[in-house]
Amino acid sequence: MANGANLILALKAAVALASVLLILSLVALGAGKVRLHGQINLVFFLAVMATLVGFEVVLRMVQPGIYDWIRQDPHLLARLRVHLCFAIPSALLLPVMLYTGFAKKSVHRKLAVLFGILWTGTAITGIFGLPHG
Ligand code: HEM
Repeated sequence: MANGANLILALKAAVALASVLLILSLVALGAGKVRLHGQINLVFFLAVMATLVGFEVVLRMVQPGIYDWIRQDPHLLARLRVHLCFAIPSALLLPVMLYTGFAKKSVHRKLAVLFGILWTGTAITGIFGLPHG
């Protein structure tokens, strides 16, 4: 059975892998390959959503108390809250990014700045700010 620390480690790996995909999509964009940027980001979107759904299932249905050790430590809880300040808005913005990209809306570029900040914050506070052992 998974424990909370293992699950956080797996989530860190997932965020790192997803970040590599996002960087590759930006490299494609820089090379003028807009379609490739969209295709990589479709994979990025599906990977992040699958991770989130799997994570929520474990958290809410399989082992609801798995993160009690974080909630009981005020210092760790504060770090988790900071992480969620980035992670929740970036998850909400993700479908909007996919839609505005495929629909070729000009707002996609403006939202990209916000998404870039939110994702960077999610990755840094998740990978370096949360405990995994
Ligand atoms: C974070 C930095 C990002 C930047 C700077 C960026 C920028 C762009 C730009 C300049 C385009 C060309 C279309 C246009 O002129 O508006 C584009 C297209 C697109 N983007 Fe992004 N984007 C980013 C992130 C994302 C993300 C996170 C997604 C999806 C999850 C995404 C999905 C798409 C899609 C689907 C297209 C259309 C590709 C096509 O025409 O086939 N982008 N993006």
